[in-house]
Amino acid sequence: MTTFTYSSDAPAKVRAGVLVLPVFQGPVSGPGVKEVGLETAYRDAKLTGKTNENLLVIRRDGDRFAAGAVLLVGVGDKAAFTPTTMRRVLGRVAGSLNRFGTAATTFPQAVGARDLAAASQAAVEGLVLGAYRFDRYKTAKAAPRLTRVTVLGSARANAKVARDAIKRAGIVAEAVCWARDLVNTPAGDMPPAQIAREAQKMARQVGLRCKVWGKPELERGGFGGILGVGAGSVNPPRLIELSYTGAGNETPIALTGKGIAFDSGGLSIKDAKGMETMKCDMGGAASIMATMKAIALLKPKVNVIAAIPSSENMPSGSATKPGDVLRHRGGKTSEVLNTDAEGRLVLADALAYLAEKKPKVIIDTATLTGACMVALGDQVTGAMGNDAALYRDIAAAGEAVGETMWQLPLFADYRRLIDSNIADVKNIGDRYGGAITAAWFLAEFVGDTPWIHLDIAGPAFTEKGNDLGPKGGTGVPVRTLVRYLLDRSE
Ligand code: BES
Ligand code: MN
Ligand code: ZN
Repeated sequence: MTTFTYSSDAPAKVRAGVLVLPVFQGPVSGPGVKEVGLETAYRDAKLTGKTNENLLVIRRDGDRFAAGAVLLVGVGDKAAFTPTTMRRVLGRVAGSLNRFGTAATTFPQAVGARDLAAASQAAVEGLVLGAYRFDRYKTAKAAPRLTRVTVLGSARANAKVARDAIKRAGIVAEAVCWARDLVNTPAGDMPPAQIAREAQKMARQVGLRCKVWGKPELERGGFGGILGVGAGSVNPPRLIELSYTGAGNETPIALTGKGIAFDSGGLSIKDAKGMETMKCDMGGAASIMATMKAIALLKPKVNVIAAIPSSENMPSGSATKPGDVLRHRGGKTSEVLNTDAEGRLVLADALAYLAEKKPKVIIDTATLTGACMVALGDQVTGAMGNDAALYRDIAAAGEAVGETMWQLPLFADYRRLIDSNIADVKNIGDRYGGAITAAWFLAEFVGDTPWIHLDIAGPAFTEKGNDLGPKGGTGVPVRTLVRYLLDRSE
């Protein structure tokens, strides 16, 4: 694990394996570049400061800096340089820094002092997330991560603000990496019981309450959705309850996340291609577990409860069949016309269970529909719900941390698309509007609790890799949820 420290030392004096400095488009030197005597070196290399135009200078006798090397990083237009662009630029170079052992950077000084906290946090997050690798199954392990990163502030900066932000960022980024590990671990090694064990272990480490419901308890509790989806698998389902108390007996905020350990489609089986990435179908669950972990360590003054349903969706002689009717927690029934629309079935139970507790709001996150991916692509989360203020707050949190979401309408006329002939609702709608009919299904189970549903089918998993990490689980939307909860701390 990388240690992050803050210092107001002069860039030229810092002893680090590599010193990472920004250069704006022009090129215009960013903080520290003049001080280390490399103003002309960057220009002489015919670089202009566009993103991806980087120059590595190894120290030689006579150089005016103490670091082993300086990496000059093109960051683009100065006016457009924000904490979000900083996180991405540093994310992109992070992996190449590991070999230097230690690093220092002036990056947070490149945005206005007003943004010191957000900038310091973004820098640390970019460096941790960009350097993330999943090597559990590689015999040749990835290079060890940086042991230490020093964030360099100007002498005038508020050191306390920067130090707090750096500490916060380290906790959040490590939680995101944990969510990624959970998603990246193959379904063969991460059945519902293992997801539950991971939650229990985490809860013990950080001091959360954790209760795991097994099959007998789920039967007694009437969780027919979780049981029905899991009926075809030899790996029995679980419901994982986590709670954090930071505000006495205040009404809690409730979270849930889709925890399908593997989604084969069940008897409505997917084709081979469609199944390749379906270990990612517990990405919502992983993001809620990681959010709870970060919150336990950051200790905001809020109360949070999470109930995370986890089943494995498999075909077999005992599997739920198309046409079967399930009875959910609280008594509502659903007709399962397509066993591949399983996420809503497990979430229905969890939402009904959480609504019983009369929380302030319920937030769910789920790799729910391919339709949402078609609509918004693989970087934008689809948001739907019954409360405009809650959407505004979540979207603002997402905007602040660089996780983009966009609202799709819970259009009233589409509700009838999930009317069932024989049950209260059916689990599929028409050919079109699939993200919205899925949300209408969920809405049926929240009663009048303010609620938002985040469809992360696109952003939870990247098949190409991106600025903030390699191919695989991304940990979206952990940073948004943590930010939202911190903002609620009174
Ligand atoms: N887990 C999938 C959705 C998904 C697809 C997530 C691709 C990530 C990438 C979900 O359970 C599913 O299979 N949804 C179906 C619903 C349909 C049968 C109504 C879909 O989107 O095709
Ligand atoms: Mn499915
Ligand atoms: Zn699924």
